[in-house]
Amino acid sequence: MKKLISPLDLTTQEIDELLELADRIIETPQAFAHKCDGKILATLFFEPSTRTRLSFESAMLSLGGQVLGFSSANSSSAAKGESVADTVRTVECYADIIAMRHPKEGAATVAASKVDCPLINAGDGGHQHPTQTLTDLLTIHRLKGHLDNLTVGLCGDLKFGRTVHSLIRAMMRYKGIKFVLVSPKELQIPDYIRDDLVREGFPFEEVERLEDAISQMDILYMTRVQRERFFNEEDYLRLKDSYILTPEKLRTAKPDLCILHPLPRVNEISVAVDDDPRACYFKQVKNGRYIRMALILKLLGIE
Ligand code: NCD
Repeated sequence: MKKLISPLDLTTQEIDELLELADRIIETPQAFAHKCDGKILATLFFEPSTRTRLSFESAMLSLGGQVLGFSSANSSSAAKGESVADTVRTVECYADIIAMRHPKEGAATVAASKVDCPLINAGDGGHQHPTQTLTDLLTIHRLKGHLDNLTVGLCGDLKFGRTVHSLIRAMMRYKGIKFVLVSPKELQIPDYIRDDLVREGFPFEEVERLEDAISQMDILYMTRVQRERFFNEEDYLRLKDSYILTPEKLRTAKPDLCILHPLPRVNEISVAVDDDPRACYFKQVKNGRYIRMALILKLLGIE
C-alpha cells in the first residue's frame, strides 16, 4: 500500500491492522514518540480544512517527525497556474509522505501516479475521503466494540458528501450492516454508490424524514450540506436546513445510539445535543489524530 485514494485501496485485514495499531498508540503514545524521527510529512491543501490538516500535522509531530506544506491554493504556485502533477513532483523532493486535499475529483489519483512516495487523499472534491472513514471506523469500533451487525443511518448531503461515499464503501465489507439513507431527493447518494449497493444485494433504504427512521439506528452519521459543491446558491439556501438534529428528535432513538459528524457542523446538529451522552463527534475528532499516526507508520513501512 503506497497510496490511499479510496477506502478500497485497503484490504479488510489492513483496516483491522490500522485500527489495532491506533488502539495501541492511544494506550501507549510515548512508545511511538520517536518512530518518525527525521521524516517529513507534506500537507498540500488546495481546499479549506481544520481537522484533517491539523490532525495530520499533529499526528506526524506526535511521531517525532516534521511537517511542511500549504493550507490554501492561493499560497502555492497553483495560483500561478502550476499543475497538480508538477506541484507533487516538487514536494516529493522535500518530503517523505504527502497528504493532499483538492477540490477536483480524481486529483489525488493523478497526483499519486506522479510520485514514488506514499500519497494520501485527504479529500478530492465530492468523491472520497478515506482518512475520515478510518477515523469513523476507529470511533465506531471503540464505542461499539465491533464493526458488524449495525444499522447505520447517514443523514444530510449524501450526494456531495465525500465522507459519506467513503464510509459506505468501507462498511459494505462488514457483515450484518444495513444503511438508512436520509436525504432530500436532490441530495441522494450518487448512482455509482447506489449501483454498488444494488449489485451486491446490500440492505439499504432511502427515506426523507429523519423522524421516521431514527429509532432503528445504532449509528447516526450527520453531515453538512456541501455549499461549495452546489451549482447555484438558491438550491443551497432551499436545502441547507433540511435536517437539524434536536434533543426532541432523539426521543425515539436508541439509548446507545452513537451520533457522529465529520465536522464542520453548520447547524445540522443543535448545540443542545452536545451534552447528550450519545453525541460522539468530539471523540471522533480525537480519534482522527491517532488513526493518522497509525496510517503514517504503515505507509512509511515503520510498523
Ligand atoms: C469533511 C470534508 O472535508 O469532507 N470534513 C472533514 O474532513 N472532517 C466534511 C465536510 O466538510 O462537510
